[in-house]
Amino acid sequence: MSRTIDLRADIGEVLISEEAIAARVAELGRQVTADYRGEPLTLVSVLKGSLPFMADLMRQIELPVRIDLMEVSSYGGTATESSGLVRIIKDLSASIAGEHVLLVEDIIDTGLTLNYLVRYLRGKNPASLRICTLLDKPARRLAEIPVDYRGFEIPDQFVVGYGLDYGERYRNLRFVGVLRPEVYSAPE
Ligand code: IMP
Ligand code: MG
Repeated sequence: MSRTIDLRADIGEVLISEEAIAARVAELGRQVTADYRGEPLTLVSVLKGSLPFMADLMRQIELPVRIDLMEVSSYGGTATESSGLVRIIKDLSASIAGEHVLLVEDIIDTGLTLNYLVRYLRGKNPASLRICTLLDKPARRLAEIPVDYRGFEIPDQFVVGYGLDYGERYRNLRFVGVLRPEVYSAPE
C-alpha cells in the first residue's frame, strides 16, 4: 500500500491551476490551427507524461489531424534526472514521411530526450517538424531545442501532475504542482 493516498497532501504549491492549463491549451490549439492553415497535421506525443496534454490539445486544433504515440525511457537516470540516453519502448505506428509533424511533449528540462527524438524523427523525412511543449524549464538546458509552441516557462523545480510523475505517481492530478521535499526523502 502507498504511504499516503492523499496525493494532494504531497504537493507544496500549485504552480499552474487546472483553469490556467485549460486556457493556455486552448490558446495553443488556436495558434496551431492558424499556423497550419488547413494542412493535415500529424501529432506525435511521447508517453506517458504527455497523455493529458495531447488529449486536450488535439481537441483544440481544428485541422485534419492524425495522431501517433511513442514511448521512450532514459537509461540510468533517476526519478528526477534524465540521463539523455534514450531507449524507444514504443515506436511510431505509421510512416511520417512527407507529413507535417508536431511533436507534443509534457516538459523540456535538459532537452536531452527531445534532442534525441528530434534527430530520430527528422531521419524519417517528415515535410516539417515542429515542437510543442506544455512546460519549459530552461534553467537546466543542455541541448539546444527550437521550441515552436510553449505552454508555460517554469522555474527549476521538480513538478508533478497533469501527466507528470514522480515514481509513476501523481500523473492524475488536474494541476501542475511542486512536490514537498519530504516526499523525495521519505522511505517507501
Ligand atoms: P529532459 O531529457 O531532461 O529534457 O527530460 C525530459 C523528461 O524528463 C520529461 O519528458 C519528463 O518525463 C522528465 N522530467 C523532467 N523534468 C521533470 C519534472 O519537473 N517533473 C516530472 N518529470 C520531469
Ligand atoms: Mg517521468
